[in-house]
Amino acid sequence: MSRTPPNAPVRGLPDADAEEAALLARHTEFPILAKATYLISHSLGAMHRGVFDSMQQYATMWATRGIRSWAEGWWALPGATGDLLCDILDAPHGSIVMQQNVSICQSIVASCFDYRPPRNKIVYTSLNFPTVMYVWEAKARDGAVIREVASPDGMTMPTELLLDAIDEQTLLVPISHVLYKSSYLQDAQRIVEKAHAVGARVVLDCYQSAGTVPFSLRELGVDFACGGSVKWLCGGPGAGWLYVRPDLRPLLEPRVTGWMAHRAPFDFVPGPIDYAEGSYRFLTGSPAVPAMFAARPGYEVIRDLGVAAIRRKSQRQTELLRHEGLTRGLRVTSPVDPGRRGGTITLDPTPLAAAGTTRSTRDLPLDDRLGAAVVKALAAREILVDFRPGAGIRVSPHFYNSDEELRLCLDAIVEIVRTRAFAQHQGGAAY
Ligand SMILES: Cc1ncc(COP(=O)(O)O)c(C=O)c1O
Repeated sequence: MSRTPPNAPVRGLPDADAEEAALLARHTEFPILAKATYLISHSLGAMHRGVFDSMQQYATMWATRGIRSWAEGWWALPGATGDLLCDILDAPHGSIVMQQNVSICQSIVASCFDYRPPRNKIVYTSLNFPTVMYVWEAKARDGAVIREVASPDGMTMPTELLLDAIDEQTLLVPISHVLYKSSYLQDAQRIVEKAHAVGARVVLDCYQSAGTVPFSLRELGVDFACGGSVKWLCGGPGAGWLYVRPDLRPLLEPRVTGWMAHRAPFDFVPGPIDYAEGSYRFLTGSPAVPAMFAARPGYEVIRDLGVAAIRRKSQRQTELLRHEGLTRGLRVTSPVDPGRRGGTITLDPTPLAAAGTTRSTRDLPLDDRLGAAVVKALAAREILVDFRPGAGIRVSPHFYNSDEELRLCLDAIVEIVRTRAFAQHQGGAAY
């Protein structure tokens, strides 16, 4: 591994290398890694082989225990699965319940509030994941005033700009911890502090941070947090999660609700709901049982490895990608500071395509068509990454990826771009 200093002890591995070796050793447990260069964990984390057994267990229960399965574990799953996440995200057991996805989580939170002036402002950034904006924009019909803080560069959000927008009229601040497009890591602590100082509440979307950036929900003191499991948590689809700070629970009565949120669901009491006291208060109807079976093996690996160790390897590898990407003539559009970056690096091949032509490569606008074409050509070589317009090619090393895979991906990008640029040049294109 490249980080070993020249004067490292001869006997045994230095701690950092031993730590990385332990992470990398888990790669054999993820079947797809044997076939593909899998650098797309910001979108769909690789499936752990344990999911085969876990789904088999679910099917066996249904097939053999039938209706008794509910009492023998299925009803308890939203809380029990949430507790695994509490261990990963440092939250008290019982404070996270499983939901279907982030959109549902945000809708449940939104349904707990009234949007009457004077405190009816919702402050978020233009770089939120769109689904979050859709949920809150819809609240404008109930009287919410939406204040969208524009990113000055389309990639980052200076904290001061966001803080300035949070004032005494602000009710809620629904923001992403790590921005999906650029991987910019927001300063959640300062945002929570400012919001609390003026009496507002924060809804932190941790989809792009949970499992790759360590944080403590307890220490952040954030009011609400949510995420899904499709990405860095390697838990697959349908396993969203919602955290509500325990002291807030009794104050909240979600209008997006259902019988599982009732204090005694099996009493089937008609009329207005009598809410449960714990976090089941935020549930709706019957839970997504198979999704929770599927999520468990991935969560257990992340919990056992520890997100702090995952982050150390991730930061070294995103730096490797940044440096070696630049050396190969790619433009890096993610934040330069590894401390302000999540687990992804975004690479723009536009300057490389223009290199060797008469065009100045410095201020070339990002060529979305080129980026999309490169991603397609990489997929044909079993190198899996993706592309976001205006940002570039998103490349995400997770604990199971090696440095060799990163270099393979960078070299392939260069080769694809050069071949394409050459073909276009022959055809008379500018680059
Ligand atoms: C930051 C962020 N939030 C939310 C989502 C998705 O939301 P949902 O779980 O509703 O599909 C994504 C990605 O797909 C995301 O990157």
